[in-house]
Amino acid sequence: MLPPYRIKVVEPIPFLDPQQRREALADAGYNPFELRADQITIDLLSDSGTGATSAAQEAAAALGDESYAGARSWFRFRDEARDLTGYPHLLPVHQGRAGERVLFTSLLEPGQLCLSNTHFDTTRANVTLAGAEARDLPCPAAFDLDSADPFKGDIDLDALAATLTGPERDRVGLVLITITNNGLGGQPVSMANLTAVRDLCRAHGVPFFLDAARFAENAWLVGQREPGYRDWTPRQIATHAFGLADGCVVSLKKDGLSAIGGLIGLRDDDLFARCEANLIATEGFSTYGGLAGHDLERLAQGLREVVDPAYLRARAASTARLARLINEAGVDTVQPAGIHALYLNAGRLLPHLSPAEFPGHALGCQLYLDGGIRCAELGSLYLGGMDDRHRLVTPAPFELVRLAIPRRVYTDTHFEYVAAVLADIAKEPGRVPGYRVISSPPLLRHFKVRLAQLPTGGGGAD
Ligand code: F0G
Repeated sequence: MLPPYRIKVVEPIPFLDPQQRREALADAGYNPFELRADQITIDLLSDSGTGATSAAQEAAAALGDESYAGARSWFRFRDEARDLTGYPHLLPVHQGRAGERVLFTSLLEPGQLCLSNTHFDTTRANVTLAGAEARDLPCPAAFDLDSADPFKGDIDLDALAATLTGPERDRVGLVLITITNNGLGGQPVSMANLTAVRDLCRAHGVPFFLDAARFAENAWLVGQREPGYRDWTPRQIATHAFGLADGCVVSLKKDGLSAIGGLIGLRDDDLFARCEANLIATEGFSTYGGLAGHDLERLAQGLREVVDPAYLRARAASTARLARLINEAGVDTVQPAGIHALYLNAGRLLPHLSPAEFPGHALGCQLYLDGGIRCAELGSLYLGGMDDRHRLVTPAPFELVRLAIPRRVYTDTHFEYVAAVLADIAKEPGRVPGYRVISSPPLLRHFKVRLAQLPTGGGGAD
């Protein structure tokens, strides 16, 4: 389980005292997105663009060709990505959501439906901005947070088939499967599920795409959990998954092991021509797509390193160990542990807070106040319905907090610290205060929302 690397370059992390943290969080309107990085000790807000690069990636970056068109770095990246995904057409984009925008505005018509196991937040926003409707059809097992079901990331095939044959069948413009399912516990999607989706989409003439931000981690979990894939390498499983779909959008800020980058993979010539025209107008020429040559070099090398079984085994083991420590401290996490993040069951830990007092957000804030740890809520603050006075009307199904794990950045000692801070909170959960919303934007609320702390010990949200 040893990580197959050692550390060569390090970066200091800040330690603020409790008073400084209280002030920092209040100044940030109790929104962790508004904190400055130099106010944070352990940053588990996102695993996106936050990983460490390798010496080989930095060496490759020095060879970056910054030519406007036809750069060597593009061809190196394209060949690597084509070899991995098998798609004949590839377009580079600066990050995943740029790929979503280019693809959805080229593929979806206003009024159409995009069906998914779960749309990521920017994905949902880009479907909406394209005039279409994003609809999630997660499998029923996803709603039992404690079950050990190995593939809770799957789409509900019965619901998918019913939509493809029901009264709305002519509205379905796209089926998009997110691997792994970031919005629902970071759970993997099985190859059996992807194959069944491919068959259904083919039968009904609907395009099937992957949102493959964590394609390598999904492949690792398939290899561990799905009978029939035990002897496959993660790379073979990933290539097979890409092969089932008509195309993909990929944020390479995750499994590209780089700070920036993304790609669109396509088979259809006409769709490629439409996307390419859109890309050139909005992202950059089709041999760089908003990326520098040195970024493309890091990505080409990152795509090789990320499917290394030794790397994936060590990363999965490290996340599983953190999950064990947290569970032993009395905090439940969505089971079974995935790889890129752990999802804490804040609703269960803080029963004294109602959904309208945002227990997930409250736990996230407490992790910062007590330990300088930053993370993100995935509960009613993010997903709930609110009225125009920012009061919660429809709670989210669960009140979760996501601890996202940057790649190759923190050691097990850092994770022991995180577990210790959580253990202290779990000893006296009743002291964690709730929150109420003061102001909130209409779209992508969680990024810019501002809140106030409620007095401890009651009162509740009005
Ligand atoms: N799709 C998924 C499944 C994602 O998790 C993300 C980003 C995107 C698309 C968008 O990619 O950030 O490169 O534009 N997820 C990050 C996260 C931000 O923290 O989960 P992007």
